[in-house]
Amino acid sequence: MRTACLFGMVALFALGQSYQEPYRPQFHFSPKQFWTNDPNGLVFFEGEYHLFFQYNPFGDQWGHMSWGHAVSADLIHWKELPVALREESGVMIFTGSIAIDRTNTSGFCLDQKPCMIAVYTGAATEVKPALQTQNIAYSNDRGRTWTKYSKNPVLNLHLTDFRDPDVFWSEQSKRWIMTVSLPTEHKAVFYGSADFKSWDKLSEFGPAGTTSGQWECPVLMKIPVDGNPANALWVLKVGLNPGSLQGGSGEQYFVGSFDGTRFLNSNPSTLTLWSDYGKDCYCGLAFHNLPSSQSPLMLGWMSNWQYADKLPTHPWRGQMTFPRELGLRTFPEGIRMVQKPVASLAGLRGKPARSSGTVIPLTSQTFEVEASVDLRNAQRAGWKIVSRSGAYTTIGYDRLLGEVFVDRSQSGDVGFHKDFPARTAAPLSVSGPVSFDILVDRNSVEVFVDEGRVVLTNLVFAPDASRLVFFSEGGGTAKPPATTVWPIRSFQ
Ligand code: FRU
Repeated sequence: MRTACLFGMVALFALGQSYQEPYRPQFHFSPKQFWTNDPNGLVFFEGEYHLFFQYNPFGDQWGHMSWGHAVSADLIHWKELPVALREESGVMIFTGSIAIDRTNTSGFCLDQKPCMIAVYTGAATEVKPALQTQNIAYSNDRGRTWTKYSKNPVLNLHLTDFRDPDVFWSEQSKRWIMTVSLPTEHKAVFYGSADFKSWDKLSEFGPAGTTSGQWECPVLMKIPVDGNPANALWVLKVGLNPGSLQGGSGEQYFVGSFDGTRFLNSNPSTLTLWSDYGKDCYCGLAFHNLPSSQSPLMLGWMSNWQYADKLPTHPWRGQMTFPRELGLRTFPEGIRMVQKPVASLAGLRGKPARSSGTVIPLTSQTFEVEASVDLRNAQRAGWKIVSRSGAYTTIGYDRLLGEVFVDRSQSGDVGFHKDFPARTAAPLSVSGPVSFDILVDRNSVEVFVDEGRVVLTNLVFAPDASRLVFFSEGGGTAKPPATTVWPIRSFQ
């Protein structure tokens, strides 16, 4: 009996299914075991949200890139499924997207039913020079099994760096549009197709904004302005690595128009708008095929290429950010992207604790904090999430510097890489109280400020979270605000 039980536990552990390992995220997706980076093929189809992801099926370092697969009915409870698309004949499956072909434009859909078309980069690294091309695969069983197109690639410029296609249907030009990156040229290129198989170049965008490193994972999406779907603009988001604001990999976006052929930036091309001011949100992709009543949704890889392969987690390495609803809002300085955690998070909330005290004891390591801080004459105010060991993460607003910040330099396990300890900050000018919505999982802190106008996503490896301590420094003191803390349950 004891042996059987032990056996069971060993088997469970071997499969990495306990989800109770140190630092295992409880309400963010992470694979049971092994390496992941970018999300791929985010799509809603027949009642399921699909999250495919860059995955190494053989280990916890980058390599043998394939598409892992998970599904969810609510963007919170994820079920991991078998690997969807595997590396084959020396061609790895890099980042890409999934489109739903409703009218069999591809010729791959069976029984007059919509089918899924994956458009991905095939990366051949064993040939010299290495080659990246765009390829397609299709599925007629809700993404469970895939067939690679026999005449791949569908787009080959004979380049070493040409990747990360994102495909959507353009109502304006009645064709499929692919946004794809020329990473070293700092360009997003647009192609059009009637059938996914032959692609014509339409236009290109860039260089613009920040042009350090390589541009990766471009996404073009239409987002309502000020909540009005009749007034929508287009956002082109691109990742860049290295050289982002906080060092290493990060993401910027451009706001403008798209006429079915060409993207026009509404802002001066020198302006950089960062979509996240933390260190750990990269290659965010948007969900395709959402019901028209639903706001655009995005989730990213919660890591940074600077230290992604050193994260102190086992048996998995890499996880996703919490899914976010996207909007555009008009501010005095212009139209900017706003983000908020998807509403279904409420389903994981436990009983809230409300307090206006300086010290709030925490009953769970995973929780959400909501409060508005009025700094009055203080220079700086906010919270420290403190562990029993004394390690802490500081989150606050600095009135003199005019910035929101998250400092994880004393947060616990920070020594595994020199670029990990960091204070990340975002400029923000406010006249009244500053509102915070903070999501804390076992290995991360995501901070949404001023209704999502500023977001900071950071990994944090703290031994535990025992209390929330309000602090106020410099000048007069700020009063601890009315604070709500919800324990967040595990989705497992
Ligand atoms: C971005 C990226 C993509 C590429 C993938 C490979 O993180 O470098 O450009 O497709 O990762 O895993």
